[in-house]
Amino acid sequence: MKPVDTSFCLAHLLVCVNERHGSSLPSCANKDAEAIYQRLRDWIEAHGMLSRIWLTRTGCLGWCHVQGTTVAIYPQNIWYRALTLEDCDRLIAEHLEPLLR
Ligand code: FES
Repeated sequence: MKPVDTSFCLAHLLVCVNERHGSSLPSCANKDAEAIYQRLRDWIEAHGMLSRIWLTRTGCLGWCHVQGTTVAIYPQNIWYRALTLEDCDRLIAEHLEPLLR
């Protein structure tokens, strides 16, 4: 076992892209989860921050909602559910842009 140096990581975003089959429960994959992941990734990449702002697709984070996707930001411990593609600009402005300063 080898510890990983995460000291250069400013934030790690977890984006649920879970897709359910055979269930009536909501599924983030049905609510633009992949497009949300890509929108966030494009912004991070455009700002040259891929090594400092990490982004990971995940399975169900437990806050499924019919209106959107679940995203968590660590170590800030900020969570959103029902996040839409239209909400990405606000998430970026409030939580990612300040990391550039
Ligand atoms: S399916 Fe995304 S939080 Fe459950």
